[in-house]
Amino acid sequence: MEIGRYKRGELVAKWDKILREKWYRQEKPDELVVNFFASLKKENKTLRIFDLGCGAGRNLVYMASQGFEAHGMDMSQTGLDLTRKRLEKRNLKAHVVKGDMHWLPYMNACFNVVICLFAIYHQKLEDIKVTISEIRRVLKKKGVLLVNFQSKNSQMYGKGIKIEEDTFIRQDGPEKGVPHHFTDKQEIMKLLKDFQTINIELHERTSADGYFQSRWAVVATA
Ligand SMILES: C[S@@+](CC[C@H](N)C(=O)[O-])C[C@H]1O[C@@H](n2cnc3c(N)ncnc32)[C@H](O)[C@@H]1O
Repeated sequence: MEIGRYKRGELVAKWDKILREKWYRQEKPDELVVNFFASLKKENKTLRIFDLGCGAGRNLVYMASQGFEAHGMDMSQTGLDLTRKRLEKRNLKAHVVKGDMHWLPYMNACFNVVICLFAIYHQKLEDIKVTISEIRRVLKKKGVLLVNFQSKNSQMYGKGIKIEEDTFIRQDGPEKGVPHHFTDKQEIMKLLKDFQTINIELHERTSADGYFQSRWAVVATA
């Protein structure tokens, strides 16, 4: 048996399966998103916002419901189908496309805000770098990125097959076969070197199933 084998193309089927099995299908938007949008000027509804790795759409639906021009992308068709159904049910509009965060099918400098939550770290470090340079490319000047990363304090650190420094492929649980990269503040600063201002917070808690979770929540301005 080949262990630790990692083919990017196989991840689409893995994420489809995860979402079909009803993981990550919460309806409520993430707290990070609600707090972030509360801090944006209420009157500025003309903002064009992009949810990268939108999954089943909980955050995208919320952004559309707040009156923003909402765009979303994910590699999972299952995620996109769920997102579209949720939008339809609430009579909301958003632009949703299928794609890999390696390459964003958008023009330069076209978004005011990009959010990428619980998604970017499911890649190797080099791929994360590519995604960040794509995000930077599609952000307008002074545009803002809200992103989170797994921290090395997480109880999940080291679990699974190591495929490079700080990146492991889970061998159990719903994310079996999916890579997780864990990072620290220094690496985040390097990854975001082309951004003007960077605000990093460590968010830690023990989940209902007893796991110690530790993630970096980052807001960076282009
Ligand atoms: C844990 S879910 C989080 C979804 C959503 N951001 C949320 O907070 O509910 C991770 C999502 O990232 C997507 N994803 C993972 N790697 C991706 C890639 N390389 N390109 C596009 N989407 C990807 C998966 O399909 C999945 O829907």
